[in-house]
Amino acid sequence: MTDSFDMFIETEIPQNDVIISRTDLKGVITYANDTFAEISDYTIDELIGKPHNILRHPDMPKSAFADLWATIKAGNIWQGYVKNLRKDRGYYWVYAEVSGVYKDGEVVEYKSIRSWVPKEKRRQMQKIYDKMRFEDGENVRCVSYIPADLYNKLLTLSDNDKVCGDTILKELVKKI
Ligand SMILES: Cc1cc2nc3c(=O)[nH]c(=O)nc-3n(C[C@H](O)[C@H](O)[C@H](O)COP(=O)(O)O)c2cc1C
Repeated sequence: MTDSFDMFIETEIPQNDVIISRTDLKGVITYANDTFAEISDYTIDELIGKPHNILRHPDMPKSAFADLWATIKAGNIWQGYVKNLRKDRGYYWVYAEVSGVYKDGEVVEYKSIRSWVPKEKRRQMQKIYDKMRFEDGENVRCVSYIPADLYNKLLTLSDNDKVCGDTILKELVKKI
């Protein structure tokens, strides 16, 4: 089981920089700039060829991406705020504009340009997305501090010490 707190650590895009990526029509990354690699904690080589959802943060509601895909497939520009997951499980917020790349009038790829988000906007979007996930019956974020002895007891409920928090929670719910 991991007790890493990286998941709570935020990285900020420099205000004078942008993250740029392109994908094929299925959302597989075909181009990433240096800032994308730096902020996401991946190397450019690790990003190319991977589906864009490797960045998908569990705090993002499903409907945000459904809206993104419907918008760009209809030939429009999607604009919105996205919380992304870093390779080290930390996170970063972006304001994103996603749209098609056209050749001879045909869409051949998609591109995304992402920039810094002011702190107040990040707080606002976190609350909005928490509410959307709750109302849509998706996962609810639940963070808690528990005494070390209870934590150790929970660990003994699992078969080995490599299971994730989710598995322990499910075991616990079964016992209750
Ligand atoms: C050009 C482009 C950029 C995208 N950027 C992101 C991104 O930064 N983060 C993200 O989670 N999904 C991004 N997506 C959407 C993903 O493809 C995917 O739909 C999303 O992560 C949700 O994953 P799922 O479709 O497997 O549920 C992007 C899609 C496109 C076409």
